Amino acid sequence: MDHFLYRDGVLHAEDVAIPEIAAAVGTPFYVYSTATLTRHFRLFDEALEGMDHLVCFAIKSNSNLAVLKVLGDLGAGMDVVSGGEYRRAKAAGVPGERIVFSGVGKTREEIRLVLEGGIRQFNVESEPELIAISEVASDLGVSAPIAIRVNPDVDAKTHAKIATGKSENKFGIPIAKARAVYAMAAKLPGISVVGVDVHIGSQLTDLAPFEVAFTKVRELTLALREDGHDIRRLDLGGGLGIPYERSNAAPPLPVEYGAVIRRTVGDLGCEIEIEPGRLISGNAGIMVASVIYLKQGEGRDFLIVDAAMNDLVRPSMYDAHHDIIPVVEPAPGTEAQPIDVVGPVCETGDTFAKARGLTPLGAGDLVAFRSAGAYGAVMSSEYNSRPLIPEVLVNGDQFAVIRRRPSFEEMLARDSIPEWL
Ligand code: LLP
Repeated sequence: MDHFLYRDGVLHAEDVAIPEIAAAVGTPFYVYSTATLTRHFRLFDEALEGMDHLVCFAIKSNSNLAVLKVLGDLGAGMDVVSGGEYRRAKAAGVPGERIVFSGVGKTREEIRLVLEGGIRQFNVESEPELIAISEVASDLGVSAPIAIRVNPDVDAKTHAKIATGKSENKFGIPIAKARAVYAMAAKLPGISVVGVDVHIGSQLTDLAPFEVAFTKVRELTLALREDGHDIRRLDLGGGLGIPYERSNAAPPLPVEYGAVIRRTVGDLGCEIEIEPGRLISGNAGIMVASVIYLKQGEGRDFLIVDAAMNDLVRPSMYDAHHDIIPVVEPAPGTEAQPIDVVGPVCETGDTFAKARGLTPLGAGDLVAFRSAGAYGAVMSSEYNSRPLIPEVLVNGDQFAVIRRRPSFEEMLARDSIPEWL
C-alpha cells in the first residue's frame, strides 16, 4: 500500500496534487511520501516485535538526507556501503551505534572515518579487509566490532545483476570457510567478533531462499559458539521484493518474512538486524515527467517524455518494469493503446516501456512512474548533460524540495579547462 492515489481524478501524493508540485518545481522530478516511508519502516519493525532487533535502512536505495531523517527519527538504523553514505547517515542525525558498514571494498580512509565517528559493526567481506580493519583499529587504539558476511551459496532467484548469495558472486566469505576466518579474526588485535552477516540478493519475491540461507546461518552460529565465539548479533541483510506490477501477485509481506526469521534463528538469543532498502523506499516514491511529443512511427507510436534513462536507469539496466500512469485519471471507458514510452537520450536503451497500454496522452500531459523511490534518484547521472532532477518530500498537505535541480552554471563550473589549452 502507498499514498499515491487519484482524488477527484487527479493523482495525489498524500494530500498534495501532483500538478501543484509540477507547477512549483517543473518536470521531471521525484516525489516521496512520508506516510509510506513511515508505514513501511513500521511493517518491518512490527514483524520483528518481541525479538531484540534493529531495522537498518539500506541507504543505497535512497540516500536523500530528508528521507534518512524521517526514518532515523522513527528509530531506524542505517546500512551504509561507503564513507559518503556514512556521512549522510550522520548528517541526518543517526548515531554511529545504529550504523552498520557493509561492502566489499572498504578503504582504510573509510575504516578510519567510521571508527572515529562511531560504528555499530563492520560487515566484513574478506580476509584482507579483516587485516586492514585490525591495523587501522590498533593504530587508533580502539576495538572494531565485526560480523563476517558469509556467502551461503543460495540461489536468490532474482535478476542476475542483483543476486549476491551464490558462490560465483563477489560477496562474502564462502560459508564452508567461515569457521577458519572467525578463528583468524579472534586472534587479530583491534577486532571484536560480535556476529554473523548474510545478504543473498535483492527483489526476492519468494521466501524459500531466505529460509535456506537463514537456516545455514543458524547452523554456523551454533558451530561458532562451540568454537568459543560470542555470537550475539545476526545481520540478515535486505532483499525482500516489492510489487512493481500492480497486476501481478503480491510478493510476501514483511510479517511473513519476520516469521521466517523467528522460525530459523529466533531461538538463538541473538539480536536481529535486517537491512531492507527497496521495500521501505521503493513504493514510497514516484517519478513525474511531462510528455514532450507523441511521435507516430512505422507500426508503433512513441510517447517521448522529458525524463530519461539518466534519471531512472532501472528499465534500461535491468529490463525493470515500472507502472506508468497518467496524472489526470482517464475518463471511465477510455481505451488503452500500446505505445513505447521513451526519453530524449540518444540511445535505443533509453526506453521505459515497450508497447505499454496507455490511454491517449498529448504534449504537456503529466505521467507518473510508480515504484521509483528505491534505486531511482540514487542511480541517476547527468548523461547527455541533463541536470539531476529535483526530489520532493510530501507530508500530509505540505511539500518541500529536498534536493533542488542544479543550474547549468553549476554543472559547467565543475569542469575546468587547463591553462595550456
Ligand atoms: N544489504 C546489502 C548488503 C545489499 O547489498 C543490499 C542491496 C541491501 C541490503 C538492500 O537490499 P534491498 O532490500 O533494497 O533489496 N540497483 C538494483 C538493486 C541493487 C541492490 C544492491 N544491494 C535495482 O535497482 O534493482
